[in-house]
Formats: sequence, structure tokens, C-alpha cells
Amino acid sequence: MQAMQVKRVSTRDTYQIRSKVLRPGRPIETCHFEGDAEDQTFHLGAFVENRLVSIASFYFRKNPAFESENQFQLRGMATLKEYRGKGLSRELLNVAFPMIKQNFCNLVWCNARTESKGFYETVGFESEGQVFNIEDVGEHILMYKNIES
Ligand SMILES: CC(C)(COP(=O)(O)OP(=O)(O)OC[C@H]1O[C@@H](n2cnc3c(N)ncnc32)[C@H](O)[C@@H]1OP(=O)(O)O)[C@@H](O)C(=O)NCCC(=O)NCCS
Repeated sequence: MQAMQVKRVSTRDTYQIRSKVLRPGRPIETCHFEGDAEDQTFHLGAFVENRLVSIASFYFRKNPAFESENQFQLRGMATLKEYRGKGLSRELLNVAFPMIKQNFCNLVWCNARTESKGFYETVGFESEGQVFNIEDVGEHILMYKNIES
């Protein structure tokens, strides 16, 4: 694969991949997530040959399931089909974790789609609690990773 670059991107930049991968056939408004424009939110994109092909978004948000006061939520993780399995999402997380630590946060959590649970396990996340349904999106499970060390 051609050299890959990770950069910060705007909320708007994420819409095309969110729409295609995460909200196919749904109105573009569904590609805007609560908190997208908050100050501490950041979005990362992986570019291959200057094309944005993989995205992830990070929100300063506490989940009451975890004790830690300072947590980030991971959302909107998606890679275009033809670029999957090449380590792009893993690289986005490798860039994000130190940025999150700089904000004095030591825990990252996400509501993972059950079909993507294997990916999150590969990158060191663990599950918490039972599978639950998010309307129009499907079955999810809460997952988390401590990034202290
Ligand atoms: C889940 C997703 C974001 C992973 O993106 P990706 O760029 O292909 O991931 P990577 O290539 O960085 O994968 C890292 C590792 O996880 C593994 N992996 C990827 N998807 C996996 C899956 N569904 N189950 C098990 N392992 C998986 C890869 O093989 C790789 O392992 P390796 O480093 O040992 O080779 C991508 O498959 C996707 O966009 N899926 C559809 C949208 C989605 O479900 N998003 C998550 C919403 S919660």
C-alpha cells in the first residue's frame, strides 16, 4: 500500500465515510453526532494517496459504568471497504491515545457494534456488561481500554 498519513480532520470531512460505511441509505443528518463540534472533540483521518479512507472521532465524555473521572468516547470508527485490514484504524488509535493522555484522560470507551468486537479486542479493548440494541443501527456492546501505561 502507498504511504499513509494520519491528520486531524473536521467534522464535515467525516460525513462522506460515515454516510457510506456507518449510515448507508440514511439521511445525511444522521451523520452528525452529538458533541461533534465541542471544543475537546477531535476527529482523525487516514489518507492514502491524499484520499481520506479511514476515520475516527473522540469525545470528552464520561460513561457512568467506569469510575475514572476523565474519559474519552470513541465513535464513528470506519474504514472504506477496499482499505480494511491494512492497519489504518489501528494507526488512528495509536495517534489518538497520546493525544487523549495529554488531556489527562486514561480511559477510552465505545459502544462497539457486535460484528466489530473482534477488531476492538485486537487493539486491546475489553467488553463490559451485556449486548444492547441501538435503534436502526443494531446490536452493540460497551467496550473500554485503559491507556494509563
Ligand atoms: C472495524 C473497522 C473500523 C476496522 O478497520 P480496519 O482499518 O480494517 O482495521 P485495522 O486494519 O486497523 O485492524 C487492526 C487489526 O484488527 C483486525 N480486525 C479488523 N476487523 C476485525 C474484525 N471485525 N474482527 C476481528 N478482527 C478484526 C485486523 O485484522 C487487524 O489485525 P492484525 O493487526 O493482527 O492484522 C472496519 O472493519 C469497518 O469500517 N467496519 C465497518 C464499520 C464498523 O463496524 N465500525 C465500527 C463501529 S463500532
